[in-house]
Amino acid sequence: MIIREGTIADVEQMSAFLRELTASGKRVSPDSEEFVRSHYIEDVDKVRCSVADDGGFVLGFQSLKRAQAGNQWGVEPGWGIVGTHIRPSAARRGVGRTLFTATRNAAREAGLSHIDASIASTNAEALAYYEAIGFRTYRTPDGLICKRFDVLA
Ligand SMILES: CC(C)(COP(=O)(O)OP(=O)(O)OC[C@H]1O[C@@H](n2cnc3c(N)ncnc32)[C@H](O)[C@@H]1OP(=O)(O)O)[C@@H](O)C(=O)NCCC(=O)NCCS
Repeated sequence: MIIREGTIADVEQMSAFLRELTASGKRVSPDSEEFVRSHYIEDVDKVRCSVADDGGFVLGFQSLKRAQAGNQWGVEPGWGIVGTHIRPSAARRGVGRTLFTATRNAAREAGLSHIDASIASTNAEALAYYEAIGFRTYRTPDGLICKRFDVLA
């Protein structure tokens, strides 16, 4: 498995496993190829969208964006916002943990001081994942648990 920057050529696979996550009740956001292209690969606020690639088979991806003023998640402007999406058949094999090494490096290079992960309070596996890689809870708006990673610590 290698970690590399996601490209337009990955969109089809990314969308396909996002649809699997939707079908299993683990995703509520859109999952179309158009959404993947505009919100992850070509998003204007993108810092990095890393994919885990196993011989051309995309195992998962992690998106890092820079929060803008008035963003819908209420994240401090200038912080990073992370999202992690692992192909169900590749879960719990260290893909997410490996992706975060690239994301953390990208955050440092971009000069981000903190990264926010806003997680549904019912999503036990994502809460456990972010806690395991060093995120800690700092606010709990309705239905969410927001965890913060201190990039420079
Ligand atoms: C949650 C998710 C991102 C974790 O990614 P992953 O590649 O499966 O996680 P890793 O294998 O790298 O696990 C790293 C650590 O996180 C924790 N963890 C991950 N999945 C877990 C689970 N299902 N239950 C408990 N702990 C878990 C463990 O501490 C794990 O370390 P260990 O395996 O040595 O015990 C992934 O399963 C996923 O994409 N889920 C569906 C989409 C989603 O909910 N995304 C987050 C939206 S905010």
